[in-house]
Amino acid sequence: MKTIIEPFRIKVVEPIRMTTRAERERLIREARYNLFGLHADDVLIDLLTDSGTSAMSARQWAGIMQGDESYAGSPSYHRFEAAVRALMPFRHIIPTHQGRAAERILFSVAVKPGDRVPGNTHFDTTRANIEASGAEAVDLVIPEGLDPESRHPFKGNMDLDRLEAFLAEHPGRVPLVMITVTNNSGGGQPVSMANLRGVRAVCDRHGVPLFIDACRFAENAYFIKLREEGYADHSVRAIVREMFSLADGMTMSAKKDALVNIGGWLAMNDDAWAEQANTLLILTEGFPTYGGLAGRDLEAIAIGLEEVVDEDYLQYRIASTRYLGEALSRLGVPIVQPVGGHAVYVDARRMLPHLSPLQYPGQALAVALYEVGGIRSCEIGTVMFGRRPDGSEQPAPMDLVRLAIPRRVYTQSHIDYVIECFEEVQREKERLPGYRITWEPPRLRHFTAHFAPLTAGS
Ligand code: F0G
Repeated sequence: MKTIIEPFRIKVVEPIRMTTRAERERLIREARYNLFGLHADDVLIDLLTDSGTSAMSARQWAGIMQGDESYAGSPSYHRFEAAVRALMPFRHIIPTHQGRAAERILFSVAVKPGDRVPGNTHFDTTRANIEASGAEAVDLVIPEGLDPESRHPFKGNMDLDRLEAFLAEHPGRVPLVMITVTNNSGGGQPVSMANLRGVRAVCDRHGVPLFIDACRFAENAYFIKLREEGYADHSVRAIVREMFSLADGMTMSAKKDALVNIGGWLAMNDDAWAEQANTLLILTEGFPTYGGLAGRDLEAIAIGLEEVVDEDYLQYRIASTRYLGEALSRLGVPIVQPVGGHAVYVDARRMLPHLSPLQYPGQALAVALYEVGGIRSCEIGTVMFGRRPDGSEQPAPMDLVRLAIPRRVYTQSHIDYVIECFEEVQREKERLPGYRITWEPPRLRHFTAHFAPLTAGS
């Protein structure tokens, strides 16, 4: 059969409130053209993020009822710990309320001012937590990872030569190396097992530990199965175990590939770091057997981890993202190639060449998608990255719009609707206005900035 069906039936539904284009034009104007300012029930298809937006299974909801809320030693913690360790065999597994809490604890423990932490491409919260510890976050992804048109199968790979040179250049100043799977900030692109092995070897030569930012580990493992020689016959579980056997620790946002709405963890082998991490955990998150979560959340994670490595699920997941990407390509919409695991990234700068980067083509496309079809997406470009610490403004390297696909939430007809909206936007694209910012906060402006469309002559 050619059709890859959603490998689930729907037992509980959430209605989508339909709106008209005229209503949406008013709503986005009232939100000052910032999609973060919309009420979510005014959105028809919400592709803002794949984080915390997964649909849980009947088994997970049943697990929620079985959650044990004991302050210390909850059996739910032990089920969580066993489920994590079955895939990621680390000595210490420390639950946190989400990924960035794991990052903050790790970097508070491991990093000193003046240190440097190389990665393929650090996610923004990872970078911000490294910088908050007084260290520098450095991205060393392979050159193909920065070229939207390159079809390299593992564009998330670390540049091993640059990593080797970097570690040789900064002896004693690199407390750990971090590799993000899949590489979210670089288009959701996977990292190969060969590259992970190479990074491990470089780390060993320099005596530096390796941590994995593991948010989308199952999608990464499935890409290894599909694309890397010698892995077609390995189970995803075995691939996941091999990936993590190469690392000394990990941070995790369970809001992605643990199929839950909240949660995360930090895991590692080093006893001394773990002891310090647990002390900080008690100070800021909670006791080590719940760490900022309820017992019921830990149950849902334990079950989610079994479901996410199911290969029927992963086949559907990767196929559905690719389905959207390939359809947009056929319409002539420029996208980052090849399609990543959790999202399609549209190259808005190439799609709207009549707008200069400082007229925010990504924002223009995101607003148009909302007005035309009620679709919420996320600008990842000059709005997000254009303001420099010295106050000046510069174009970001790319102006992308991310269409992130929540797990197990939308069906193929929802995605067909998104494709049809793009057809309409393609017809109108020469007429889409650019935007200017009328107000912005001092930092992280994309969340709250106000915009106004540029009219002729403005
Ligand atoms: N690392 C990566 C690669 C991420 O994508 C995220 C979150 C985090 C860490 C932080 O995890 O949100 O649980 O604190 N990414 C979301 C996104 C927000 O939309 O891509 P968190």
